[in-house]
Amino acid sequence: KTEIITVNPEAIDQAALARAAAVLRRGGLVAFPTETVYGLGAVIYNRDGIKNIFTVKGRPGDNPLIVHIHQCEQVTELAREVPETARILARRFWPGPLTMILPKKEEIPTEVSAGLPTVAIRLPAHPVALELLRQTGLPVAAPSANISGRPSPTRGSHVIADLEGKVDLIIDAGPTGVGVESTVLDLTGPKLRILRPGGVTREMLEAIFGPEMVEAPSQINCRRPLAPGMKYRHYAPQAPLRLLTGDEDQVRRFLQRTAAQAQSAGKRIGIIAYDEDQSPALAVAGVTYLSMGRRANPAEGAERLFHLLRLCDQAGVDEIYAVAPPRQGVGEAVFNRLYKAAGGKVEEIK
Ligand code: TXA
Ligand code: MG
Repeated sequence: KTEIITVNPEAIDQAALARAAAVLRRGGLVAFPTETVYGLGAVIYNRDGIKNIFTVKGRPGDNPLIVHIHQCEQVTELAREVPETARILARRFWPGPLTMILPKKEEIPTEVSAGLPTVAIRLPAHPVALELLRQTGLPVAAPSANISGRPSPTRGSHVIADLEGKVDLIIDAGPTGVGVESTVLDLTGPKLRILRPGGVTREMLEAIFGPEMVEAPSQINCRRPLAPGMKYRHYAPQAPLRLLTGDEDQVRRFLQRTAAQAQSAGKRIGIIAYDEDQSPALAVAGVTYLSMGRRANPAEGAERLFHLLRLCDQAGVDEIYAVAPPRQGVGEAVFNRLYKAAGGKVEEIK
């Protein structure tokens, strides 16, 4: 029922993408790669297509979708007002992992924006996504192409595991690149509010607009969830995940003790840590050690994170221990996803 096509992002098969665009234009669902994670797309003006996205993902109806475009000019088709900040951001970061929240035009179906007066817009940087959007010629709503609550898909195989048999077409173009979802930035207030950290970092925004113009989640004294989607337990593997902070040496010793205990108790655990945390003490029966790469390069951790969470599920571990990344650059986004997977808790190891 689901057609799966493999596309090489360096030598795009135009005919294959024409077929995918045709499926979208007649209201079908197509999963496609972006530079962040795979998306599950439907044309925004096709109500059945949009409803099917929510059904297939098991997504709560109050969680709005991001609208994907291939040309900056399309923003004026979607947004009622386009402030100068949006133009600056588009010039600097599009195509790229930035989603802008703007006041929406009437014509956008309420299902897309889940009844909100705003719309989320993004121009992705992946060549396959851009070509698909160009051939479709209409804005495409696309949440991440996973079952709601599961880790976002960063490989074609992740999409196939979650959605085969449930959507019309899946385009497999290999690993995505950035690995965490786009930065969601609210432009409807006096300041820029980061609702979800991602590949366009707070530091990058502050360098352009100044620190006083940028509000990041940790600074906002607000009990309500930022983006509607942020209130759900997200990015969650099947096993419970414990997020560990504290002195690096202390954390390493804690992992070694935990590995020894798991081994003697006959438990299976997953450890998601950095190359620097690896040691012979972790290479024991029952321990699945998975690396986010080097601590100094948060982009490596971002690229692998969701894949590692899925590997933990495949290994059937009872519990996952994840080392918190340094909260700089895209490390903030990795921290945010792990924090959600941990159910909003961190443990300081002393
Ligand atoms: O990188 C990405 O953004 C990927 C790729 C496929 O583009 N898409 C993605 O979509 O992550 P999704 O649906 O998994 O996450 C969209 C987030 C949710 O947290 C949602 O609540 C928020 O954006 N959002 C969408 N529209 C919004 C709006 N009008 N106001 C506030 N938040 C909004
Ligand atoms: Mg998602």
